[in-house]
Amino acid sequence: MTKHLLLGQTLGFLGNPLRGEWADVTRFDSAGGVLIEEERITKTGSGAALRAAHPDAQVTDYGDALISAGFVDAHMHYPQTGIIASWGKQLIDWLNTYTFPEEAKFHDRAYAHDVADRTLDLALAHGTTTLTSFCTIHPDSVEAFFDAAASRNMAVVAGKTCMDRNAPDNLRDTAQSAYDDSKALLETWHGRGRTTYAITPRFSPTSTPEQLEALGALWAENPDVLMQTHLSEQRPEIEWVHGLFPQARDYLDTYEAFGLLGEKGLYGHAIHLEPREIDRLREVGASVVHCPTSNTFIGSGLFDLMGLATAGLQIGLATDTGGGSSFSMLRTMAAAYEIGQLRGLALHPAQLMWLATEGSARALHMSGEIGHLGAGAMADIVVLDLAATPAIAQRHAQANDLWDALFPTIMMGDDRAIIDVWVAGARWEQN
Ligand code: GUN
Ligand code: ZN
Repeated sequence: MTKHLLLGQTLGFLGNPLRGEWADVTRFDSAGGVLIEEERITKTGSGAALRAAHPDAQVTDYGDALISAGFVDAHMHYPQTGIIASWGKQLIDWLNTYTFPEEAKFHDRAYAHDVADRTLDLALAHGTTTLTSFCTIHPDSVEAFFDAAASRNMAVVAGKTCMDRNAPDNLRDTAQSAYDDSKALLETWHGRGRTTYAITPRFSPTSTPEQLEALGALWAENPDVLMQTHLSEQRPEIEWVHGLFPQARDYLDTYEAFGLLGEKGLYGHAIHLEPREIDRLREVGASVVHCPTSNTFIGSGLFDLMGLATAGLQIGLATDTGGGSSFSMLRTMAAAYEIGQLRGLALHPAQLMWLATEGSARALHMSGEIGHLGAGAMADIVVLDLAATPAIAQRHAQANDLWDALFPTIMMGDDRAIIDVWVAGARWEQN
């Protein structure tokens, strides 16, 4: 049996630091160890004690680098990797100008495979071990992504994006084909290796009621899969939804009415929510996903993280690339912090790290399996250099506790802060 022991500073969580006092639920060890047997973490604790108890383990000593669960990105679009950081548009224009022309290229499986490989390698290089992705309307785009993830042994969530109106001709399916293709894909892929399927209506403006109904029926027939979509991202989008669904009580109702509101639902953005929407999301135990770099980049608004957490909603954190402007969950945490500040609230680094790991894992219903530095979890791990650049190093030199030492890397760090990434118990090396 292959046994690895990673030594360094370790950070893990015993509970949700957004709900209670962060200090009560964080577990930090300045001389910690993580024991990996085959693909899982089997023990965490004192590095010296683990070393003495497991003399047969292969030791990697990371010194004072920080060992954390790998980052979990709870919402992104791998087909938009090629158009990240495209200038000057807000949501609807951005979709029409940049996104749809790029997504149309994914009818070509070789192109899809190339972008899937590139995206997964970029994610890993930034310390992200799980991606939750929208694909395109083309079933091959889903296969390409799942194939590429399987070859890296990564846990991923994805689904065929469904659109049967308000999109270009070459990017439209139908209610029936969306149902048939999604069904075939989930039957092939859901639960195969580390793959999870998510039924994926893009958002209600690009689906007819018939398509939403068909996908709601598919979810009812397959309640163990996830469902992902977008909700209340921008004001003009919400107005458009009201026009398209005049009978709906609010944006969420356009999903709820067709069986697309449920515990395993992931609702990206959720910025401009009505009180009824918040109540319903909480009642069913659904998750909302905060995409802060996207919200500032596309100009969407300021997500009410603490308000929604206090209301009892599950919250994940995500890049939303290519609407989001970075592949880095460090940069994403920084943007969440900045949005918090604009709302008068300073998120603690413990809360940010929890969101990027355990919080997203919970949103994906994979708590304890991924995003967790503790016994039983898959060994998906990131090792962070807390002094990776001259600017960070000089600030780090002044730090007087872990949080003060970590926060400059959250605010200013990028892929240069990533020393190593472990995926399912193996150290990742880029080909
Ligand atoms: N709403 C519908 N589609 C998209 C998308 O691709 N990106 C973002 N940010 N919002 C969307
Ligand atoms: Zn999105």
